[in-house]
Amino acid sequence: MTLPLIERFRDRLPVTAATPIVSLGEGSTPLLRAPRLGETLGVRELWLKWEASNPTGSYKDRGMTVAVSKAKEDGAQAVICASTGNTSASAAAYAARAGIPAIVLCPLGAVTGPKVAQSRMYGATMLEVRGNFDEALASAKELAARGTHVLVNSLNPNRREGQKTAVFEIVEELGGSPDAFLLPYGGGGNTSAYRQGQDELGISAPIYSVESEDRPHTLASAIRIVVPHHAEAVAASGARVVTVSDAEIIEVWQLLATQEGLFCEPSSAAGLVALRRGLVEGERVVVTITGHGLKDTDSADHYAPAPIVCDPDPDSIARASAAQKS
Ligand code: F0G
Repeated sequence: MTLPLIERFRDRLPVTAATPIVSLGEGSTPLLRAPRLGETLGVRELWLKWEASNPTGSYKDRGMTVAVSKAKEDGAQAVICASTGNTSASAAAYAARAGIPAIVLCPLGAVTGPKVAQSRMYGATMLEVRGNFDEALASAKELAARGTHVLVNSLNPNRREGQKTAVFEIVEELGGSPDAFLLPYGGGGNTSAYRQGQDELGISAPIYSVESEDRPHTLASAIRIVVPHHAEAVAASGARVVTVSDAEIIEVWQLLATQEGLFCEPSSAAGLVALRRGLVEGERVVVTITGHGLKDTDSADHYAPAPIVCDPDPDSIARASAAQKS
């Protein structure tokens, strides 16, 4: 049986014997060696931390198990978050598990259909805000400040406590620190959590945090955040911020699927761009792939090769597959 994240790292998390554990079996995600993609990108030892295998399909569950468990311990009446779609799905799921109502605020028209559907399925109150993520977050903070709702965005330190455990798992599995950690940069909560995890282990490997050059409009909708709310912590962490185009993100996102069989959402592959650009020093590199491809099927539909229509007979199939290869 996979241990709940809180049980596995209990001694390094802000929990006590009195904390009710709200778990969906998060964490302990695969660390996959990626030899083919490593060769393409010129890295001797490339590892992928496959965070899509968390219960709601993204790394958010690591922090959410801690944030919602603590909220329950503190007698919270409800939780609230603003989200580009993954935090909302995770908050909704863990709130359902805890038996606490959740309000999730999503920017109207800017969250993928599967993420909206996922959050709604868990029974959360889904509010589509006429505004962007930044405006939704500002209003969620204001409501939380009234004391009726616990904010479960990564501004809640319990979220970052949970997220730091990805570093513990990676270092434990490799038997030491990798030469570099690479990940996407939206609001910067995960970057700051990775630094915290390293600090607690007494290691200090470079973190490459990859952001979009067009934050308000990027196709990578999960990281469509205009002003990163953890920018100061990211600067203090010493992370190397790499600013990239959508075309670069799309290229590595497709390579990851075709060369390693990992289908993530576009934002989740962003860390790989730092490798593609040849910026990363070191031989053993870990890239965190943050969320599942099924969360953004529109992007896949748009960029993957179209299916070919054929008749149900062998000659038609042979002709069709030859046509695709040519
Ligand atoms: N990858 C995915 C799949 C995300 O959903 C996010 C952020 C990030 C990377 C960026 O992480 O913000 O810690 O720098 N998603 C948030 C959300 C904003 O609401 O789901 P960050």
